[in-house]
Amino acid sequence: MDYREYIAKKLNVENVTAADIAKSPNSEMGDFALPCFKLAKIFRRSPVQIAEGLKNGFKTDEVISEVSAVNGYLNFKVNKSGLAAEVLGRILLEGEMYGSSSIGKGKTVCIDYSSVNIAKPFHIGHLSTTVIGGALYKIFKFLGYNVVGINHLGDYGTQFGKLICAYKKWGVKEEVEKGGIHAINALYVRFNEEADEEMESAAREYFRLIESGDKEANELFEWFKTLTLNYVKNIYDKLNITFDSYAGERFYTDKMQPVIDELKEKKLLKESEGAQIVDLDGYGMPPCLILRSDGASLYATRDLAAAIYRKKTYDFYKCLYVVAYQQNLHFKQVFKVLELMGRDWAKDMVHVAYGMVSLEDGAMSTRKGKVVWLEDVISKCIEKAYAVIDEKNSALENKAEIAKVVGLGAVVFGALYNNKIKDIVFSYDKVLSFEGETSVYVQYTCARANSVLTKSGVKPFLPSGYEPNAQEAEVIKALSAFPQTVLDASEKYEPSLIARFAVDLAQRYNKFYLDCKILTAEGAQKDFRLALTKATLQTLKNALTLLGIGVPEKM
Ligand code: ARG
Repeated sequence: MDYREYIAKKLNVENVTAADIAKSPNSEMGDFALPCFKLAKIFRRSPVQIAEGLKNGFKTDEVISEVSAVNGYLNFKVNKSGLAAEVLGRILLEGEMYGSSSIGKGKTVCIDYSSVNIAKPFHIGHLSTTVIGGALYKIFKFLGYNVVGINHLGDYGTQFGKLICAYKKWGVKEEVEKGGIHAINALYVRFNEEADEEMESAAREYFRLIESGDKEANELFEWFKTLTLNYVKNIYDKLNITFDSYAGERFYTDKMQPVIDELKEKKLLKESEGAQIVDLDGYGMPPCLILRSDGASLYATRDLAAAIYRKKTYDFYKCLYVVAYQQNLHFKQVFKVLELMGRDWAKDMVHVAYGMVSLEDGAMSTRKGKVVWLEDVISKCIEKAYAVIDEKNSALENKAEIAKVVGLGAVVFGALYNNKIKDIVFSYDKVLSFEGETSVYVQYTCARANSVLTKSGVKPFLPSGYEPNAQEAEVIKALSAFPQTVLDASEKYEPSLIARFAVDLAQRYNKFYLDCKILTAEGAQKDFRLALTKATLQTLKNALTLLGIGVPEKM
């Protein structure tokens, strides 16, 4: 039930809508409150008088059990036993579907995320796009949307000519086969360090050969691509990430000319120093480069072709690009050019920008082969998770399996917990803390709930008419907010809302757990507390699942 909506309707005061009614910051006073200061101007009476007047006219009922007027606020208390029965009943009934909806039915959302570069390191800088995109994918699915996950591979460019050249000169087939992406990357780095003019020109020739369909050059290119994809797919599996399309930049090779023709036809293309550009001066942006003076296409050219292709193929309702904020200008330009081309759906394209991830020692990304590979961060986190778990509970069975789930969860949660635009410093100790705002804390709470339920030995059911105490009511309130949180996360493209929700719910449950007996309680109270435990476990699981994080039974 939407309480704000209910209260606003019942108040029936002009100018007051559900949006004016706030969650009360102080749960002693009530669950919701209407500040009457805005109304004072309209009704020309003091807020205190208005609150008092509204209170006298408000009849409590089975939904709102108490109203009070304090210092210009009208406070409402929700009927706790009614709310508890409704929320718990719904969670126990809906189970893993609790929080889902069919709001997205018939609508398609494209999500361009992770988008790796072939033959280049998959490093810590790719963590955010991969896990934020992966979470958005699951969130939109959960809300009934048809979702298309797209890995817009960086598989186009002169670097592949360089790579072939380096391989031909220094490469050994078996070594590359064995070393995979690491070996390829080493060849590329060596080229950049050692290549002379002769090699540079050979590299340009190899790139031309790829472009013109030369068999050998393309076979080598495809081989590098396969090695890269095998490598990243292994990481995607660990992180519970899936894609529906791996159509990368190269896929648009033959789809750019129609775009260029259309730009020409619509008089949007201008020559500037030999290059072809779209002038965006009138929109406060530098020009969007479409063709270089040597006729080569650019990143933006391929993104224009990709956007048009996606609209035609998927008829998306929204097309999201989960890409670092460094590319803000790029996407602004691409969206603007589409708009100028008369594509009214340009308004449905969203750049979901996120901040940088760095490690505590300052290490970050690609500078001259000194790279922090994502795979190494994951392994290290799993290793450290093992140590943390072992210390806490060394008698635990399946420690290695559990450490995997906990370590992976910590990597994901560490990248998801903050508002996505913030730059974050990744700290192993912080993400693996049992006490902090971490996935470990949430998973541990699940294990705790699980253990309570196992020990009870009964299937929880909901007693009727039970009046929850303060700690229980706090848990109920959090539980009831889950569906709205999922919606908010989808509207703001912000999975961190779900991560924060999980921590908040876990904190409230733990307070309840420490303050109230469960297994030694009796009668309806025991039944209620077990039902509350079961509902909390279910909701935490649903939240973590949306983020791509697993839940061990024991910890
Ligand atoms: N491969 C690019 C990079 O690593 C990201 C591609 C993002 N998607 C897009 N359609 N431009 O910077």
